[in-house]
Amino acid sequence: MDISSWTSTLKTIGLATLSYLGYKLIRQASIYLLPSKLPRYNVSGKNWALVTGATDGIGFGFCQELCSRGFNVILHGRNREKLVQREKELNTAFPAQKTGIVVLDVVGVHDGVDDVAQQVRGIIGTQGQGKLSVLVNNVGGETRPSVTLGTLKYADVNATIDKNARFMAQITRVLLPLLSEGNGQGRSGLVLNVSSISQYGMPYICVYSATKGFVDSFTMALEAECSAEGCGVDVMGLRIGEVKTAGYNVDSTLFVPVARTLAKAGLDRVGCGKVIVWAYFWHWLQGLSFEIMPRWILMHVTIGRMMAIKKREEEKAFKGQ
Ligand SMILES: NC(=O)c1ccc[n+]([C@@H]2O[C@H](COP(=O)([O-])OP(=O)(O)OC[C@H]3O[C@@H](n4cnc5c(N)ncnc54)[C@H](OP(=O)(O)O)[C@@H]3O)[C@@H](O)[C@H]2O)c1
Repeated sequence: MDISSWTSTLKTIGLATLSYLGYKLIRQASIYLLPSKLPRYNVSGKNWALVTGATDGIGFGFCQELCSRGFNVILHGRNREKLVQREKELNTAFPAQKTGIVVLDVVGVHDGVDDVAQQVRGIIGTQGQGKLSVLVNNVGGETRPSVTLGTLKYADVNATIDKNARFMAQITRVLLPLLSEGNGQGRSGLVLNVSSISQYGMPYICVYSATKGFVDSFTMALEAECSAEGCGVDVMGLRIGEVKTAGYNVDSTLFVPVARTLAKAGLDRVGCGKVIVWAYFWHWLQGLSFEIMPRWILMHVTIGRMMAIKKREEEKAFKGQ
C-alpha cells in the first residue's frame, strides 16, 4: 500500500470514529429532551411519594416538585418542628395535595426502621385513598467536608455511612413491598436514589465519596433484581454535581443550580431509559470531563476545589466562635 492510500484509510477511520462519538454524544444529550414518564406512577392522581431528608435542600425541592405534579407527599427528617413547618409550607403552596411526616434520625439507624412501613400505611390510610408509589432516597451529605481520612473520628465515619448508604438500603428494603403493591395493573412503583459526582473517587471526602459508589452499585443491582423478579418497581439513580443547598451553601450559577431546579431536572429524567443518569444537563456536560480527561488533571482541579471549601468552612467556624 502506498502512502496516499494509507492516509486515505486513516482519514476514513478517523471520520468513522468521530461520527460514532458524535452520534453517542447526541444520543446522550437527547435524553434531556424526552418527556418525563413520572405520571405513570400516579395514574389515579391519589398516589404518594416519600422523600428522605425532606426538610431542606434538594429533598425539599423534590417535595415541592412532586406536589406540583399531583403527588401527595410524606416528608422524612430528624427534626419534628422543621418537618411540621415544611409541611405547612407545602399545604399553603399546594392545597390540593395531602402530606404526612416521618421522624427518624438516620445516624445510628437500627431495626426500628422496620416500623416506617406501618407509619406510612397509617398516614395513607387516615388521609384517604392511594398508595405509596415513589421513594426518593435523598438524605445524605458529608458530615465533615474536606478533611483527611485520618482526621475523622470513629463516629464520623459511621455517621457518613449511615446517612448516605446504610439508611438508604434499609428504608428501600422496608418500603419495597408497599411500592410493589398493585403490581400487575401497570407500573406500581419507582425508587429514585440520589448519587453524586463524588462517586468517581474524590480526595478529602473519601468516606462520602465511597458511599456514593455504594449508592450507584446498589441502584444497578436492585434495578436488575426488580426486573428479574417482575416486582413492578423501577429503580433509577440520579447523579448530580454541585447544587446550592443548606448543606452546600455556594453561589448559584448555570453549573450550580438551586435545589428545586435540580429536583425538577431529576423528575424530568424519569423513564429516560438509563438506570443511572445525570439529572441536570449542565452537570452531564461537566461529567463528560470525567470520561475524557486524564485522572491526574481532574484530581488536580478537585484538590484545588476541596482546599477552597476547606478554607471557607474554617473561616465560617472562626466567625462562629
Ligand atoms: N448539594 C450538593 O452540591 C450535592 C452534590 C452531590 C450530591 N448531593 C446529594 O444530594 C442529597 C441532598 O443534599 P443537600 O445538599 O440537599 O443536603 P442538605 O441541604 O444538607 O439537606 C439534607 C437533608 O437531610 C436531612 N438530614 C441530615 N442529617 C439527617 C439525619 N441524621 N437524619 C435524618 N435526616 C437528616 C436534613 O435535615 P435537617 O434539616 O434536620 O438538617 C435535610 O433535610 C444528598 O444525598 C447529597 O449527598 C448534593
